[in-house]
Amino acid sequence: MNAVAGTSVSAPVRIGLIGAGGIGSFHGESLARRVPGAALASVADPAPGVAERLAASLGCPQAALEPAELLADPSIQAVVIAAPPSVHADLIEAASGAGKAIFCEKPMGLTLADADRAIDAARAAGVPLQVGFNRRYATDFRAAYDLVASGQLGEPQLLRSLTRDPGLEDPSIIKPWTIFLETLIHDFDTLLWLNLGARAVEVYAMADALVRPDWKDRGLLDTAMVMVRFDNGAMATAEASFQAVYGYDVRGEVFGSAGMVTAGDTRRTNMTFFGEKGVIYDSVRRNIDLFRDAYTGELAHFVDCVRKGTGPECTGEDARAALAIALAAIESVQTGRPVRREAVEK
Ligand SMILES: NC(=O)c1ccc[n+]([C@@H]2O[C@H](COP(=O)([O-])OP(=O)(O)OC[C@H]3O[C@@H](n4cnc5c(N)ncnc54)[C@H](O)[C@@H]3O)[C@@H](O)[C@H]2O)c1
Repeated sequence: MNAVAGTSVSAPVRIGLIGAGGIGSFHGESLARRVPGAALASVADPAPGVAERLAASLGCPQAALEPAELLADPSIQAVVIAAPPSVHADLIEAASGAGKAIFCEKPMGLTLADADRAIDAARAAGVPLQVGFNRRYATDFRAAYDLVASGQLGEPQLLRSLTRDPGLEDPSIIKPWTIFLETLIHDFDTLLWLNLGARAVEVYAMADALVRPDWKDRGLLDTAMVMVRFDNGAMATAEASFQAVYGYDVRGEVFGSAGMVTAGDTRRTNMTFFGEKGVIYDSVRRNIDLFRDAYTGELAHFVDCVRKGTGPECTGEDARAALAIALAAIESVQTGRPVRREAVEK
């Protein structure tokens, strides 16, 4: 892969942000203030006033309603896509056509066909494509990965990964199958990443509306449990809930023939209060608090790849493999049966 046109070792990489909602605003702030070697050059969002407001608050010189406007600017070398999942593949195709390096939030698409055309477009254009699996850049998850990769854990036998969001405020805005496509997709990536080189061959999922049972007949799924078997024999569980009253809880574990490694903690800081009522610590409440450094780290890695012309660690193919497990989990819920294939991603 070549360095993207217009990049030099000393000048900051000029990045356009596409989608300025919840996570887009945070990525915009990271690019403007925290990521070394990055400059937030433009923001695009079709919702009136949204891009302008974010750009103004971050001292970014340009705002647009149309992503196409940002993509047509030859001084912009890279894009961060934080629009809704339904438009990710189209935006990756358009950004590839414009020769921009691409960081895209998960999921990379909603179907394997979407994922394939996104991967093909980036490959044909020779631009880097990185997908936002931020847990890989959290220090504890990275240390767990390094330990597994070193061989000290022996053969992975059992893995687990879980995501518990802090609160389910408005069920009406949750799209069907979000728990698999947008939440558990992180866990599926974590399981694949921590079980180096393994492929999923069997997926069995259960899901329900346990947090808001009054929304079950409108299709809400807010709680899910997924079992995955891999081709190296390892077995895994991934679970998610949209509401943990104690905060934002993300953990992972690998149990191998020579030991176990865990990652993830609900503590906000290492401060612990020992008082009359017992021992108390504050828990993390938001993803942008727990993963603040990981979100910065993934973007820093992306900028580094753009500058050096190297390929990202977390690729379109990785995103496709995680999506394949999510789609198999949906199929399993729909049929009530395990999905078994030579490889789930096929
Ligand atoms: N990695 C993480 O931890 C993490 C956390 C939150 C969200 N996400 C992902 O990021 C993406 C965005 O999520 P969000 O919570 O910020 O959503 P959001 O609804 O808050 O924001 C999406 C924004 O995209 C804009 N938009 C809509 N269509 C667009 C288009 N065609 N081009 C450009 N912008 C468009 C909307 O106007 C909105 O401002 C999702 O894929 C989600 O799964 C990832």
